[in-house]
Amino acid sequence: MTNFDYQTPTRLIFGKDVVNGLADVLRPLGTRVLLTYGGGSIKRMGLYDKVKELLRDFDVTELSGIEPNPKYSTSVLDGVRLCKEHDIQVILAVGGGSVLDCSKAIAAGAKYDGEPWDLITYKVPTKAALPIVDIMTLAATGSEYDCGGVISRTETNDKVGYMDPHLYPVASFLDPTYTFTVGAKHTAAGVADAINHVCEQYFALPGNDVIDGFCESLIRTLMKWTPVALKKPDDYEARAEIMFACTFGCNGILSLGMGESGWPMHMIEHALSAYYDITHGQGLAIIMPHWMRYVLCEKTLPRFVKFGVNVMGISPELPDMKIAEKAIDGVSQFFGSLGMPMTLREVGIDDSRLQEMAHHVAVNEGLDNPAIFFPLRENDILAILKAAL
Ligand code: NZQ
Ligand code: ZN
Repeated sequence: MTNFDYQTPTRLIFGKDVVNGLADVLRPLGTRVLLTYGGGSIKRMGLYDKVKELLRDFDVTELSGIEPNPKYSTSVLDGVRLCKEHDIQVILAVGGGSVLDCSKAIAAGAKYDGEPWDLITYKVPTKAALPIVDIMTLAATGSEYDCGGVISRTETNDKVGYMDPHLYPVASFLDPTYTFTVGAKHTAAGVADAINHVCEQYFALPGNDVIDGFCESLIRTLMKWTPVALKKPDDYEARAEIMFACTFGCNGILSLGMGESGWPMHMIEHALSAYYDITHGQGLAIIMPHWMRYVLCEKTLPRFVKFGVNVMGISPELPDMKIAEKAIDGVSQFFGSLGMPMTLREVGIDDSRLQEMAHHVAVNEGLDNPAIFFPLRENDILAILKAAL
């Protein structure tokens, strides 16, 4: 087991109607609030009106229209400007991971006099950020419980992960009923994202029994309840189990005592969504089985066997390689059963820029680090992308 030093300061407030406590959580943080949200889903489900009513005694400035795969040059810079103009004290993000990620970058940019991109790319250390509270409406990223966000810069095809301890939300309100309106596409994509977060940490050497068991339980939970939520979108237990599981995907718990993984599937997918603006979880569902097949070898086999037996329910009596292959096929079939695209072509990606994307990932993401589970060079990344076409 590797050493660790772990702290998560975020307060999770989970369950039906918990949002009623919003004003009490916000008040100690300030009265001048920047309310951030996306393209309108919170208005359609009535949450916007509810939040405005709860904040009737606050001075609220709004930033709307935050895009999926949030963009630096529009949303982040607009938000920073609004914070400075209105002397904002706290940010309330209401929406999915994109809204929250964008709000984290805004929170740091608001406390910095220079170009916020310097913070996002770690050219300059983040020394402070406005406090962030969120109401999550989509179970997926785990952004509600982690200190990171992912920001896209279209001009340069960059999609950059930005993590800093100042970016942990102070509190996250998680009411599963606000995810009832998430359609089949984003329900499935969110689950694929969360399963992938778990796998990015599970497929590491060494593992340990505490975290392995936690990971296995999270994936089994997501696989069990997602078909239920797709069939009956307002099934509270299903949405609650999914939301709870997604929350733990990304905040570091699943890496405690584990070896390095390098998050290869995410690094490859971030290039796909930077170049083609596709939905993150769909890109992951396409890449994941191909990454798994590519890295399966004598060294990695025991992890795939453990996954196959404990997550996919495959008989331990079978030969190890058979268990691993069946497990990977099972992952692929599961995503297919959710109606997800299974090839790059289905999401509008052809072979014209695969080499460029493989090069971009190889140069920027450090996946050839020999310490990680299965180091990947440019030609390996290209082979995975080609297999996914
Ligand atoms: O914009 P609105 O109108 O709100 O619609 C959104 C959006 O179109 C909609 N939606 C959200 N809640 C809804 C809803 N529709 C109906 N009912 C609701 N309750 O769903 C669409 C997608 O939203 P988005 O926020 O983009 O999805 P998600 O939460 O999956 O976030 C994706 C972003 O997070 C990044 C991804 O790369 C991507 O940019 N990630 C962030 C991570 C983190 N912070 O730790 C880790 C992840 O690996 C990931 O990279
Ligand atoms: Zn992800």
